[in-house]
Amino acid sequence: MHSQGNLSKLTIDAFARLFGTTVTDIDANCKELIDTMDFRYERLSGTERDKVILNILKKFDSADLVVSGDDRKPDWERGWAENLHDFIDSGYDVSKLVPKYFKKNVPVRLNREYVMPVDPDFVLNCTRVFRNWLFKKYLKDSGSIYEFGCGPATHLVFLASIYPDKKLYGLDWAKPSQEIIRLVAKHFGWRIEGRYFDFFTPDANLHLDENSAVYTFGALEQIGRNHEAFLQFLLKESPELCINVECISELYNQDYLPDYLAFKYHNRRNYLDGYLTRLRELETAGKIQILAIHYQQFGNMYDDSHSYVIWKPKKINSAY
Ligand SMILES: C[S@@+](CC[C@H](N)C(=O)[O-])C[C@H]1O[C@@H](n2cnc3c(N)ncnc32)[C@H](O)[C@@H]1O
Repeated sequence: MHSQGNLSKLTIDAFARLFGTTVTDIDANCKELIDTMDFRYERLSGTERDKVILNILKKFDSADLVVSGDDRKPDWERGWAENLHDFIDSGYDVSKLVPKYFKKNVPVRLNREYVMPVDPDFVLNCTRVFRNWLFKKYLKDSGSIYEFGCGPATHLVFLASIYPDKKLYGLDWAKPSQEIIRLVAKHFGWRIEGRYFDFFTPDANLHLDENSAVYTFGALEQIGRNHEAFLQFLLKESPELCINVECISELYNQDYLPDYLAFKYHNRRNYLDGYLTRLRELETAGKIQILAIHYQQFGNMYDDSHSYVIWKPKKINSAY
């Protein structure tokens, strides 16, 4: 972090700390990406901070707070259909695929503080830097990569740009997602395929390629406590690597006010519940190996959405 008057800035050091790594682990291209963007922000205090906290508390009581689950499918279909139409109308401009829930000019959570970014696209840009680091570090050796709950496929578009030779798959229960991917593949000639998939009832006919990696990015958040069917699917298909970038509620330390508020908000929205606990049980039972768990202290105004857990199913030796 670097201060300029009332403004601080996310430096490469600060990004490394956020990601739970070291500066030397961030490659030159990712460092260049950081340098092209404006990561200045002002830490909120006094009445400004009180206003944010009051707004969050009021949100808990608000009748229009949307709760995740089965009946939200039409909302996702509507949202991605809008992105699909914008994408077509713009003549296939991939920037039109960015989800509209990236709010501009609002305070965000950073390092257990509330801050006001200078650049309206601060959260989106931090996400771009994070995935650049994460995907290059962990997905470089996979032949096929699957994103479950991929929505408008922006992460897959990024992956296609850095790994044109890998086979990419985007899965989602919202049909417009598959149409976006079909058009993206056709227009840019990328090796990317869309497919219908529901976390609640995984498709038994879907079999993952050899040497594949699976990831989710803010998608399991939508399934509350209902993660067992997907976990069993992954154990059966046994990919080489699983990465979940999600709000992981077990990682909040509720002795801190911002964490306490995020935890409450998370539960009110019926977000991912008990997933990390279940992974730890599976590890104790010898079924998986957890490679990394990291609480990333960064997100939107309400919760820290970019924590991650990286793990792999243990291969069963059929000779025994
Ligand atoms: C917050 S969006 C994230 C989209 C994408 N991963 C990204 O980061 O841009 C959550 C996604 O999960 C999908 N989703 C929610 N519940 C699902 C379910 N039961 N099965 C499959 N996809 C689901 C939604 O359709 C949506 O695309």
